[in-house]
Amino acid sequence: MPENSKIVITSNAERLAEKGAELMYNTAVEAIARKDSFAVAVSGGSTPRAMHRLLSQEPYRSDMPWQKTHFFWVDERMVPFDHPDSNYGAAQKDLMSMIPIPADQVYPMPAMMRPEEGADLYQAKLKTFFQGLGSLDPVFDLIILGIGTDGHTASLFPGQPSSQEPDRWVLSVKGGQPDVFRLTLTYAVLNSARHILFLVSGDAKAAVVKTLIEDRHAQLPAAKIQPLNGKITWLLDQKAASLLSEEIVADN
Ligand code: 6PG
Repeated sequence: MPENSKIVITSNAERLAEKGAELMYNTAVEAIARKDSFAVAVSGGSTPRAMHRLLSQEPYRSDMPWQKTHFFWVDERMVPFDHPDSNYGAAQKDLMSMIPIPADQVYPMPAMMRPEEGADLYQAKLKTFFQGLGSLDPVFDLIILGIGTDGHTASLFPGQPSSQEPDRWVLSVKGGQPDVFRLTLTYAVLNSARHILFLVSGDAKAAVVKTLIEDRHAQLPAAKIQPLNGKITWLLDQKAASLLSEEIVADN
């Protein structure tokens, strides 16, 4: 394991959500102590939803520093926010509608315009936000990523051209399940993060988790997540970690 990575294994999916909420809280408190704001980007899919629901309830509803939190998305399907496939729509239902976060600190990806335009618009929003913090780089305090069984992360899919331009922070792509147009943060953004949290649950992910953690030459999109000045936490439940070798788990 690279020295900037660590593995945390929980007994089940419920404990995974609890650990994820705890980690987000601790990262927020540390970021605000350091720079008086917390910038986080979250992925879609099903895994983060239990964590979002925990964050919407006490103690996090009151204890999280929502007033200084800025909530972005890692990717979005180009569907209406009230569509069941909308990542923002799910987070809105599970979390955003229940917490006292200022509306102008929640930045959904624009899903109802031409994909290229949406990518340019969100990229401009990101640049404005980080320049406002005095940073030319998109340094998120925390980015929460899922993993697909094919090794995708965000909406960066195997076999798809993904821009390596340092200046391209948001891409429009088509693919995944559902196979729709999407917006996604690029590796330039993901690898600028201070902390990447891979949140992975279930037996179906065990094989790809083993490949990504144990095969240094894995040619999968998620293997290209190598934060330049940040760290990676693999937060796995027992099932997702079930194929990891004993020495990897012991060394961790
Ligand atoms: C998306 C997600 C995607 C997700 C993985 C894991 O919008 O599709 O961002 O990258 O994180 O596919 O999804 P599950 O958590 O549903 O397994």
